[in-house]
Amino acid sequence: MSHFSMAAVDSLLAFQAQQGITGDMVEMGVFRGKSAAVLARRMSPSETLHLYDIEDYLDRDKVGRSSTKIEFNIKNTFDLKRRDLKNLKRSTKFCHVDASHMFDPTVHEIDLADYMLADDGILCLDDFTNLNYSQILAATFKYLFTRQTDLTIFLVTAEKAYLCRRRALPIYEQFILNDMQGQMTARGIPSTCIARTDTTDSYRAFHLREKLKGETDDRYGQSIYGHLYSAYQPPNFATKTLHFLARNIRRKKYARPVIREPS
Ligand SMILES: C[S@@+](CC[C@H](N)C(=O)[O-])C[C@H]1O[C@@H](n2cnc3c(N)ncnc32)[C@H](O)[C@@H]1O
Repeated sequence: MSHFSMAAVDSLLAFQAQQGITGDMVEMGVFRGKSAAVLARRMSPSETLHLYDIEDYLDRDKVGRSSTKIEFNIKNTFDLKRRDLKNLKRSTKFCHVDASHMFDPTVHEIDLADYMLADDGILCLDDFTNLNYSQILAATFKYLFTRQTDLTIFLVTAEKAYLCRRRALPIYEQFILNDMQGQMTARGIPSTCIARTDTTDSYRAFHLREKLKGETDDRYGQSIYGHLYSAYQPPNFATKTLHFLARNIRRKKYARPVIREPS
């Protein structure tokens, strides 16, 4: 895990703590335990860190103090079923996926995370933007756009994607807009920029990155995209009804059979 990712993950975990968001944490793909140690630092005594790896490479001393509650499972995540995780259903505040990076296992791991994630939890996908593993992008969008899910990407970096449930978007968007860059500075990454160039219902994630050489603005393309740098407002009843009517009128129009007049 890079210094940048450690700072980003730690900033988000600290924000969750400040918001009173509690719950266990899960990591799939642990290796020696470098990223697990970052998670362990933000656990309260009542919370448990559940680690899953197909092999045992874990350096236990690295992960945390003896008081840290850790459950290490040697398991292929592709063999894990939702029923194996029922104690964690809708209760996990942070889930880090960093295992095989293969297409089908990634779809499966996102499905497990979706099952475990609390209403205001965060799912973090490692190597999302590493094109040596471009199947992670494909697997993620397959899951998001073909399954019944309320997960959505709210942040990407040069390494990871961060997802939350749609209802939790306002709090995480507010944090990114108002505080995250300051938190990155406090963790030794002083010069960051956020970019957002679309806010459709389907996709409205921010990109957080270090500033490019000579770049001064904290927000990319502020003069063009300035209106997109505001937090998500869930649609109200009237807007939802209008969208519903528009969708149905459109569907009916296109579904109407074309009857040709006899010539
Ligand atoms: C890149 S390493 C994880 C690094 C760790 N998260 C970190 O940042 O320090 C990937 C790990 O995933 C594990 N792994 C690979 N395929 C797996 C699978 N199907 N189920 C569980 N673990 C798997 C490997 O054994 C390896 O330890």
